[in-house]
Amino acid sequence: MVTTITRAASTFCARLLDRVQPSGQRGLGEDRIRHQGACLLAVVWWPLLGMILAAAQPQSVPGEAVRGGHHDFIRYCSACHGVEGRGDGPAASALQPPPADLTRIAQRRGGHFPVAEIRASIDGRIGVPAHGRRDMPVWGERFEEMVGGGSLGEAVARSHLQLLVEYLQAIQQ
Ligand code: HEC
Repeated sequence: MVTTITRAASTFCARLLDRVQPSGQRGLGEDRIRHQGACLLAVVWWPLLGMILAAAQPQSVPGEAVRGGHHDFIRYCSACHGVEGRGDGPAASALQPPPADLTRIAQRRGGHFPVAEIRASIDGRIGVPAHGRRDMPVWGERFEEMVGGGSLGEAVARSHLQLLVEYLQAIQQ
């Protein structure tokens, strides 16, 4: 994904520079390379960084975090847990144990929503499931791989997990 964005931005920046610099002064001089680099930085990396930071700090805009989490939830979780999180998605009947009702996480624990435990259970990269096999996909790994892993992958995985946990917190009954 990042490669595609970078490539599209390269073309965009080359066209932009062609337009700003009259054709007489065009060339592959050092200036142009420097301008193109700066343009790329502005077009690709700042918005990307902004997206990551915005996702990593959803506390400042709780409404947005819940909306982002809802979007993720429908996309990645609803097949098993159902669009409302009640454990009744189209794939649920094929699973044993069945997918949990995620609107009652706190109710099952006497009114307490354990943020770290729930985040770790969605993440799945750390710890062994208490009851042998795990039917849930290892989301931490999936989110990480969506952008090719590495430190960007880790940041992306963390922000998805954060959004999802906040969303689950918001739908507790
Ligand atoms: C392939 C089906 C499937 C998908 C997709 C799925 N889950 Fe699950 N999930 C399960 C099953 C089955 C369980 C209960 C047993 C287990 O842990 O294996 C479960 C349990 C959970 C639990 C533990 C609840 C508790 O009270 O301890 C949480 C939290 C959870 N899922 C969140 C999610 C989130 C968030 C997503 C989307 C990113 C998701 N699940 C996607 C099948 C799925």
